[in-house]
Amino acid sequence: MVSLTSDMSPLHPDRNLALELVRATEAAAIRAVPFIGRGAKEAADGAAVDAMRAFFTTVNFDGTIVIGEGEKDDAPMLFNGEQVGNGRGPKCDVAVDPIDGTSLTAAGRQNALSVIAVSDHGTMLDASTVFYMDKIVTGPAGVGVVDIRLPIGENIRRLADALGKPVDEIVVSVLNRPRHENLIREIREAGAGTRLMSDGDVAGGINAARHNARTDMCVGIGGSPEGIVTACAIKALGGHIQGILSPRDDEERQRGLDAGLKFDEVYEADDLVRGKNTIFVATGVTDGQLVSGVRREGDFLYTESVVLRSASGTLRRISSEHLTSKWL
Ligand code: FBP
Repeated sequence: MVSLTSDMSPLHPDRNLALELVRATEAAAIRAVPFIGRGAKEAADGAAVDAMRAFFTTVNFDGTIVIGEGEKDDAPMLFNGEQVGNGRGPKCDVAVDPIDGTSLTAAGRQNALSVIAVSDHGTMLDASTVFYMDKIVTGPAGVGVVDIRLPIGENIRRLADALGKPVDEIVVSVLNRPRHENLIREIREAGAGTRLMSDGDVAGGINAARHNARTDMCVGIGGSPEGIVTACAIKALGGHIQGILSPRDDEERQRGLDAGLKFDEVYEADDLVRGKNTIFVATGVTDGQLVSGVRREGDFLYTESVVLRSASGTLRRISSEHLTSKWL
């Protein structure tokens, strides 16, 4: 049963913080709009980062960025270790992805999101030394059923059983990358369908974990930061996520080992982010299955966001109308 008083303490990220943070993802998404479909992913990311950073200063919390996004391609970034918030509220770990899907945004394609995830201080895995992580995500039916160490065909059969539907109705989303050629073939050989994503495996993971979603599982190698961020959302959905770090070369592997990361072990949800007090907020930059993108109509800008909290097990949808003149 949900305790109505469980999060009254200002020591922990609470429901007010969750709602406050939406203002930062809304701002980032709105500021990215002029760059949608303009072929300039760094400029889009830069605008979103600046907006998010500015809004953070108005939020009551004492956050440390554990997962900053952008190192991979020297993009503008909210950097790891940066302090965010006005320093007055709960002490938190923060993961940011001002735009998950910078290439999607630059190309004007679907599924780009602006994302912030927050958890109690000291609970997020710092995997910043290793860029890629192999992941598997499902909804609650996959908990204790699906295991990233098993062949994908076996996982598909197990999940189909748990969901009580035939294998040919299982749909698996996976990033469309050459590294996933075999994985995609094996999914199809097992009899399941694929949804190939050009980018954006945060949205892909969340969509797979949601009740009545159009996909049942999201698998494959994507960003490590995106894995931690996704875990914050999956905890609120009661879903299943596992990750195995996937270093690109020996040098990166050594950097990971030096940072205390493990390569032979599976990171379970509780290893990616510990505890039951996670917040995930996202605003659509471009239209997607999870949320609609920013839309401008006359004097108004419309945004759609989701707020997920593991303490209450809720996914809230927030539709906002913003006077365009305030953003000019
Ligand atoms: P960016 O927004 O940083 O470009 O990330 C998009 C993304 O598709 C992530 O969702 C995913 O985890 C990662 O890139 C996959 O990396 P790569 O494009 O190198 O395969």
